[in-house]
Amino acid sequence: MSYQTTLNTWVKRKRDDSIQHNSYNVTPEQNNSEKKTPRKIGDNTSNAWNSTHVKLPCSVHNVHYNKLKRLSKWYMMKTVLAQKISSTCDFQDAVSAFNPTWENPDMDALHDFFSCYVTPEEHKKFFEDILPRSQKMALSLPNTCPQAIPLLRQQKEASVSLTGEQIACLIIHAMFCTFPKRNKAKDPKDEYYGFPSINFNTLYRSLDNSCHPNIAEKFKCLFFGYLDQITRPDDFRRDNVVTFERRVLEIDGQDDIKMWSQSKKALIPLTVRVDGNIEDDALRSCQVDFANKIVGGGVLGRGCVQEEIRFLISPECIISRLFTESLQDDECLLIRGAARYSNYTGYGDTFKYNGKYEHADCNSHVEEEIIVIDALNFPKSKYSPRDQYRPNLILRELQKAYCGFERPHFKNKTIATGNWGCGVFGGNRQLKSMIQWIAASEAGRKDMIYFAYGDSKLVGELQDMVQLLTNANATVGDVYCCLTSYRDQVRDIRDEDKPTIFQYMKTLFGPINVQMDETQ
Ligand code: AR6
Repeated sequence: MSYQTTLNTWVKRKRDDSIQHNSYNVTPEQNNSEKKTPRKIGDNTSNAWNSTHVKLPCSVHNVHYNKLKRLSKWYMMKTVLAQKISSTCDFQDAVSAFNPTWENPDMDALHDFFSCYVTPEEHKKFFEDILPRSQKMALSLPNTCPQAIPLLRQQKEASVSLTGEQIACLIIHAMFCTFPKRNKAKDPKDEYYGFPSINFNTLYRSLDNSCHPNIAEKFKCLFFGYLDQITRPDDFRRDNVVTFERRVLEIDGQDDIKMWSQSKKALIPLTVRVDGNIEDDALRSCQVDFANKIVGGGVLGRGCVQEEIRFLISPECIISRLFTESLQDDECLLIRGAARYSNYTGYGDTFKYNGKYEHADCNSHVEEEIIVIDALNFPKSKYSPRDQYRPNLILRELQKAYCGFERPHFKNKTIATGNWGCGVFGGNRQLKSMIQWIAASEAGRKDMIYFAYGDSKLVGELQDMVQLLTNANATVGDVYCCLTSYRDQVRDIRDEDKPTIFQYMKTLFGPINVQMDETQ
């Protein structure tokens, strides 16, 4: 049996047909669904209240008991959201009303943002323009999202497609913190344990009575970059469809090792760039998100690196947190069609919102896919960065990347990536670049572009390696075997004398070339 055939069997997907490809195309008939909704708990409308669907704020089952009185939370939301909210105090009162068990919500970061970080014009614009439009959209929830939204649970392949308008409606609800049972899920017994947070309460609270500068920039992206545009009825992105697809690889232990090591696939072209970045300089491609297993990572908190920034400038990605359970080692999330709303400068502590995204090619997102894959998190795992050369951990990273890259219908699209897992997560850039390259090659992708993000040393080294391996006609299997043998081969060498993985690869692939040259 050829490797390709075996691999095809190996990548068969765990698909749950019952919830696959749920699409939320709002038809006029569905628009009336609020009036004629069936009231069963297991129903498939926005009233659904079960463990396979998102519990929507507008569900008839979303109730609060006050002195044994059953109060409809949606009724209360409709009442509050129909009123004018003129200040952050009003806003806080609204959020408190939606969360009756939430004692004294800390919203100091939000108060501080509107007192210290915005101009009087921006303040006015938010409370007199953006917020009223947002309230109107929030009130339309039962009509805008008439169907139940499935949860993308672990080990089940499924996808959810939503329009820009539906996503905006849901994000506005997150802003008002109306999603039930989602504010705290830290205990394994909690219903949404393993799911990301979605309500914005984590952005509003402060540790020192003030708004951290990063959070202020996040508010600017969300309020002035995103909401100001998407709440306009004529915004062209409202009808845009964004698809969130969970993929699962079927993994087979020993067989997988055999398949990788025996792969005869050729390496695909790899372009290395010192400047530029994934989201600006690889339009219409498949772009890697250096993710956390909790998708979006710290986007609703203090985090402000590649994934968080990507989610802030394309906030439609944030809604994946509403329904995507944390990713396991053999899983990824693919987000297709998320539009871009903001520009930014800086990174980490220097991150700043830089106005609305206006680009001649403003529709390129329709053809883009964000590949959400989480590398091993060395600072927070039982492993140290030293362990990353262990064959089992190399295999874990390879399968994670392969899961994201193996896309039969996207073979002709470039993969745009970079130092995946090598910032906050502490991975080695040489190793991770090779892992991603062979994963993309095995997946049969057209080519890959690697943004070294200013690391000119890596660019030189990587370009040399591309040249060396291409000249040697190295296959995926050759590189895999080389990477997985490194640890054993250098084990007895003192740390200060240990060759880097590229130096080690040169010893394996270099001499063959020399010999070949000599015999010519
Ligand atoms: N384009 C290309 N390369 C980039 C870009 C960009 N836009 N931004 C950063 N880099 P990091 P990780 C480079 O630390 O180590 C988040 O909190 C830059 O060299 O974001 O996988 C997630 O939610 C940077 O050092 O990724 C996870 O919790 C490197 O990519 C965690 O961080 C790695 O970026 C993931 O950490």
